[in-house]
Amino acid sequence: MRVPSPEMTQKVVKPLLFVLCLLPAVWLLWQAFSDNLGANPLEALLHGTGDWALRLLLLTLCVTPLRRLSGWHGLLKLRRLLGLSAFFYALAHVSLWLVFEHFFDWQAIFADILKRPYISVGLGAMLFMLPLALTSNQYMLKRLGGRRWQEVHQLVYLVAIAAVIHFWWKMKLDISEPFLYAVWLSVLLAVRYPPLAMRLYPSR
Ligand code: HEM
Repeated sequence: MRVPSPEMTQKVVKPLLFVLCLLPAVWLLWQAFSDNLGANPLEALLHGTGDWALRLLLLTLCVTPLRRLSGWHGLLKLRRLLGLSAFFYALAHVSLWLVFEHFFDWQAIFADILKRPYISVGLGAMLFMLPLALTSNQYMLKRLGGRRWQEVHQLVYLVAIAAVIHFWWKMKLDISEPFLYAVWLSVLLAVRYPPLAMRLYPSR
């Protein structure tokens, strides 16, 4: 299979992906400013940002298996962009909750974290995302060394599991959507299981 060259990946695919990652945010802002978010705009924004944080996180986890299957090594250059985009949607998601749901009322915030388990799990996901975002640059990669950097970045699996549980737990009746994300994540974890990985991509 022909894959984009490194130059093409850097000069065309990456800027295009950047624009694609921005589109949901632009769309949500557009809807917010044109008063089109329905009866509960905060809920609509929490859902939009939460959904995109999770989707982009799972897309980030697709990079390694896709790179191994296709031999398109340039995909690695797109992984950081996807991961950071997931982080920024998650940050917007949490900020909306802090600012508009609780107006920085710390007592109410702590009470909410203790009372609603799905919020505590979401908080866990967010806290684990922080070291990933902070160490995602070349400087930190050099400072930590490849091995330790990779160890830190294993946290991404905990983040993804916590984010899916957060979504699943939040839904009271209809779990069809979080179920799909759980299946997506399970496939991504399964293809990393060494015996299966060796069968899928023995030579890469
Ligand atoms: C401190 C951390 C977090 C808090 C306080 C939080 C809070 C919330 C709240 C209040 C909702 C909406 C609940 C409702 O419908 O009434 C929600 C939904 C959601 N959150 Fe979070 N969240 C956090 C972290 C995260 C993270 C890190 C992710 C993903 C990476 C995430 C993904 C989602 C998703 C996918 C939904 C469901 C959206 C939908 O219903 O379509 N959240 N969260």
